[in-house]
Amino acid sequence: MTPYYLTAPIYYVNAKPHLGHAYTTIVADTMTRFARLSGLDAMFITGTDEHGDKIVQAAAKAGRTPRELADEVSAAFRALWPELEAEPARFVRTSGPEHRAVVRAFLQKVHAAGDIYFGEYGGNYCYGCERFYTEKELENGLCPQHQVKPEYISEKNYFFRMSAYQDRLKRHILDNPGFISPERYRNEALSMLEGGVLDDLCISRPKTRLEWGIELPFDPDYVCYVWFDALLAYFTALGGPDSAEFERFWPESEHLVAKDILKPHAVFWPTMLMSAGLPLYRRLHVHGYWLSRAAKMSKSIGNVVPPLETARSLGLDAFRYFLLREMHFGSDADFSEEALTARYNADLANDLGNLFSRVLSMAARWCGGKVPAPEADTEAETDLKILASDSLADYQRFFADARFSDALEALWNLVRALNKYVDASAPWALAAAGDMERVNTVLYTLLECMRKTALHLRPVMPGKSALMLAQLGVPGGASGGAQTDSAQTSSSAGTRAGPPVGTLLGEVENFGLLPVGAPLAPASNLFPRVETDRSAAAKAKAGTRKD
Ligand code: MSP
Repeated sequence: MTPYYLTAPIYYVNAKPHLGHAYTTIVADTMTRFARLSGLDAMFITGTDEHGDKIVQAAAKAGRTPRELADEVSAAFRALWPELEAEPARFVRTSGPEHRAVVRAFLQKVHAAGDIYFGEYGGNYCYGCERFYTEKELENGLCPQHQVKPEYISEKNYFFRMSAYQDRLKRHILDNPGFISPERYRNEALSMLEGGVLDDLCISRPKTRLEWGIELPFDPDYVCYVWFDALLAYFTALGGPDSAEFERFWPESEHLVAKDILKPHAVFWPTMLMSAGLPLYRRLHVHGYWLSRAAKMSKSIGNVVPPLETARSLGLDAFRYFLLREMHFGSDADFSEEALTARYNADLANDLGNLFSRVLSMAARWCGGKVPAPEADTEAETDLKILASDSLADYQRFFADARFSDALEALWNLVRALNKYVDASAPWALAAAGDMERVNTVLYTLLECMRKTALHLRPVMPGKSALMLAQLGVPGGASGGAQTDSAQTSSSAGTRAGPPVGTLLGEVENFGLLPVGAPLAPASNLFPRVETDRSAAAKAKAGTRKD
């Protein structure tokens, strides 16, 4: 099986997880499940980024040691992922011994390549970002991320000769159009490499100023600068660059981040890899921010969306669906409970839930609750199948390109067409007229298209997808397929059995995989409609009128 390795960021432990962290990790999980359904040996990883000033300061504020704070917050991140049905294959902690060894070995390599030198540097330092800013990068003299005035710091430090790789990196980005996407971030990365010489990168902090970090292998008076530490987590998760797993997965590696950490991933990391003589990652996917009340979520504004409570309000799968459908990957999106409820009612309760409910109750009534055998197609079925295979092909194409919202929109073209087909073919009228051959054909066509829809939704809504497949009598629908998914996550390369037949995407034009005679659920209530303030008010009004 072709390997696929995706990384979500490793998150800082100075604050608890919020919706933004949940989003990236859920997207990573969704992409991994999609890759698996496409037949790849896929895994994703995440973890926590635990060293640096930011953590020391947060710990001091909380009256704790950095180690205590890191243990506590790291555990909170780790515990959140299964609650969101996100299944990272590895969870890396940068304060662990394996990671320390990987970072030190990497530093040695770059040092041996002659790309590390000792020098004095003075500059505007933002503690929040843990980096120096050039005058040009500041906005009105303030850090663009934190809107605070950076502090001027001058000290002796070690530097990575990043400038030496500027042209090579630029050429790589130009020669490989898919290296950074969407396009706007590729352009942003290219513009970072335009106009003058790229600054070299300060990679150390003197221990007199910071102790909570990994000691440089060539100078014990210094610890490693956070990005030279953090980015290496992507190696640690694979057992370091000398492991067999690294050899297998690294050439297929893809990173997923938000725009805030574009520069470290698009510029620092590839140049570091070039210096160490290692292959570059294959792709970098960059998304925008979730805003809350039109502002970036922050503790001080008080607009932080807690991921778990929100996820539970309408069910986890609905939450995952909403996140993927609402945000156009690459652009910012606004989160609100109202938008979540509106999508839930429109797309899930009305379109998808209603389809399952009406088709399964008709099959219970006229087909004895079993998948009926279809007769010859009429033009209506032929047209519907063309629409279905087009929608599913679009879905797969968009999904592979991280255009999740467009993918789901394409799938909903099918869901809506299926509801229209129910209305137009009116199986109740066919049954009343005794035309059971047509009833069976119409219901088989619907059930088979519903099976395909459910299967395609598996990466986004793993729980509901399994339930839908079980309701359709797909062998192993509820448990077998789900087991396949989770068994594969604990990823030991090459030892897995392939997924059961009919559980792979890609068979968009084959409309006969649902086994005739399979038992169907007698009823379905996948997404019960929820009352909103507006719908409750409308009902009350209608009630008054009737009275
Ligand atoms: N520790 C570094 C990453 C090192 S990766 C080698 C870091 N950590 S972080 O905790 O600040 O996480 C940043 C990431 O969290 C973003 O890139 C994004 O994936 C996610 N998000 C945090 N806030 C977000 C939003 N408001 N919206 C969307 N995603 C956001 O940077």
